[in-house]
Amino acid sequence: MRIGIIGLGVIAPYFLRAIDQDGELTLTAACDLDTAKLAELTPGVPHFTDYLELLGSGLVDGVVITLPNHLHAPVVTAALAAGVHVTCEKPLTVHSSEARELAAVATQAGSTLFTAFHRRYNSHVRRLAAELPPREQIEKVVGRYHEKIEEHTGDDRWYLDRDRCGGGCVIDNGPNALDALRQVVGELTLTDATLGDVRAGVEFYAELELRTEDGIPVEVQLDWALPGGEIKDIVVHLKDGTTVTADMLAGYHGFKSSLDHEYQGIMADFRAAVAAGPTRVDDGPVVVDLVEQAYRIGRSKERRLRMPAKADASARLVKLLFHRRQDRGMTLSPWSTRCVRAGELHELVTTTELPRLAGDRVDAVGFLGFAEFESGTVIGAGDQLWFGERLVGTVVGFDECHHPNHYNILIHADRLLTAEDLDLAVGDRLVLKESPA
Ligand SMILES: NC(=O)c1ccc[n+]([C@@H]2O[C@H](COP(=O)([O-])OP(=O)(O)OC[C@H]3O[C@@H](n4cnc5c(N)ncnc54)[C@H](O)[C@@H]3O)[C@@H](O)[C@H]2O)c1
Repeated sequence: MRIGIIGLGVIAPYFLRAIDQDGELTLTAACDLDTAKLAELTPGVPHFTDYLELLGSGLVDGVVITLPNHLHAPVVTAALAAGVHVTCEKPLTVHSSEARELAAVATQAGSTLFTAFHRRYNSHVRRLAAELPPREQIEKVVGRYHEKIEEHTGDDRWYLDRDRCGGGCVIDNGPNALDALRQVVGELTLTDATLGDVRAGVEFYAELELRTEDGIPVEVQLDWALPGGEIKDIVVHLKDGTTVTADMLAGYHGFKSSLDHEYQGIMADFRAAVAAGPTRVDDGPVVVDLVEQAYRIGRSKERRLRMPAKADASARLVKLLFHRRQDRGMTLSPWSTRCVRAGELHELVTTTELPRLAGDRVDAVGFLGFAEFESGTVIGAGDQLWFGERLVGTVVGFDECHHPNHYNILIHADRLLTAEDLDLAVGDRLVLKESPA
């Protein structure tokens, strides 16, 4: 089979070696905008700087696409239109509608559309998939894809450009992590996603939560901000407390050295997919869909992991209170956050109750006192109240019976605490800290 390659960047050498080692594949054309990269190729391979010319040259039966993410959709479209089989680096596309469209076009054209998910060929992932413990014994499965992104990029910084990459670690590492997990535990449904450590619109950290069809929880941690090196593994936690691990890098000592056997797997499987014909369904669109869902959920959230969204706010006690009540009859207000200005006074009230809905009654209360806020802030349910090194409790909400004079800020604590219990003195400072994400 005559193979062309479009894109001669960081990942291309792994494809080139795999093509070279495969007795049934021959590199017959290459394309890159950078003529210096073309000049480094084996002499005799025709060069192109325009991918449309390569695709129309009649020199290739199949093409490997290793371009920045935003170019996958247009170049795959052009390849399918030229009647060329395609293996495209992950993510197949940035948007799920594009991936579905490409799959439909490939089916119509009778061409193979194949996403190059290299981790599914990793020897440790394959072993785990083959030797997965009985599913009823599995508590949860955790996949980790941690690296320092700068160690994996070429000169062109498109990975760190949201428009060309499509996002950050979720769209970059998510596809291979999700695909490897799907090989091990089967179809996955996304239930939650939280993004974090966002720099110039690109997330360097994310946590995804998923479920298998039979309800096994699956967690994915994606981290672009490791100080150096890589952690890429899948850990199966069993109900008896033991674990079974596939460390994708174990035994592969050089940097990226596991990739050679994985890219050989891609090219052999691509060849098999072309031989099988268009009946084979590519997993690329399903994975693009999971990535898109993760962004939809993660970007809609107010908070980002590893990113403080507000400063600590200190409040100086101006009046102490020492009493408790079991029948106070406060009412949880409908607001989970309230703005307070510097200089405002509010009452700090502890409770052992956990009111949840607006209007819930709060009877068991202990009074700490009135405190003057030293800076403006937004107090929110989940914020923690600290006195020195001591965590007093967590804000559960507000009672507005004295508003607009002041709010009763309700602090959930293990027991009803008063100024006496904390040994508070007038002038002491209590600090409200943002809820841990
Ligand atoms: N780098 C990795 O470790 C890695 C691992 C797995 C998958 N991938 C995927 O492989 C793809 C490529 O990544 P990379 O790291 O090799 O990128 P890269 O930036 O190193 O290489 C991209 C190449 O494409 C060329 N190019 C850009 N626009 C072009 C155009 N219009 N026509 C022809 N050539 C053009 C560039 O000159 C460059 O040589 C991405 O989708 C990425 O997600 C990369």
